[in-house]
Amino acid sequence: MVKRNTVIVIAGVFLPMCFAALSLQRGTGELHPSNAPVAERATAEKKILAVLDRMVKSHETYLSVPTQDGQALRLLTEATDAKNVVEIGTSTGYSGLWICLALLKTNGHLTTFEIDHQRASMAQEHFKEAGVEKKVTIVQGDAHELVAKLKGPIDVAFIDADKSGYVDYLNKLLPLVQPGGLILAHNVDMVPDYVKAVTTSADLETIFYMEGGGLAVTLKKR
Ligand SMILES: C[S@@+](CC[C@H](N)C(=O)[O-])C[C@H]1O[C@@H](n2cnc3c(N)ncnc32)[C@H](O)[C@@H]1O
Repeated sequence: MVKRNTVIVIAGVFLPMCFAALSLQRGTGELHPSNAPVAERATAEKKILAVLDRMVKSHETYLSVPTQDGQALRLLTEATDAKNVVEIGTSTGYSGLWICLALLKTNGHLTTFEIDHQRASMAQEHFKEAGVEKKVTIVQGDAHELVAKLKGPIDVAFIDADKSGYVDYLNKLLPLVQPGGLILAHNVDMVPDYVKAVTTSADLETIFYMEGGGLAVTLKKR
């Protein structure tokens, strides 16, 4: 009788524990890092935020987006669960790091283009310092030529380089952006031809976020 009760107790206690352990294991995120424990992501986020802060304090930015635009980049990338993100104009990696905050959650990747060798290597160092070097590919060279090598579908594209090149970047990136994807462009008040292009196409829906440097947020509808 005692033995039977013992077996029942053991089964009653240990079986639920085994099932709990199994379901926990499924949620550990080994297959999908976005399932990584919340605490682990919070630690990774803190590390990136610390580098962003240090970059500003030690003047290691160059024509970088203001904080509000960095936050907007993160929010839009994360909310759209973007896996494939492209940036034109890396500079020293400041905006890229804001995007990386979202990539921690989406488990996505950033491909970012920079023509200036020195800034590209500084960016590489910043991505390494923030622990996200595996999430980012820096392509050094002229993005007008090199975007041709990109593979779609792109979920989010961010244009923040030579203003005279914005429309060219738009034309080259648009076919690769998937329907439902976003094209973001910085300082658009300086680029009226770009504003015209994204506000007159029936296939695009554009709003302007003017908190920081002026960000055009364009949805590719179809
Ligand atoms: C405004 S800054 C980018 C700032 C960066 N997005 C940030 O917020 O940290 C513009 C960058 O675009 C780069 N750039 C300009 N023309 C380029 C081109 N044709 N191809 C690639 N990068 C280019 C510049 O060297 C410069 O570093």
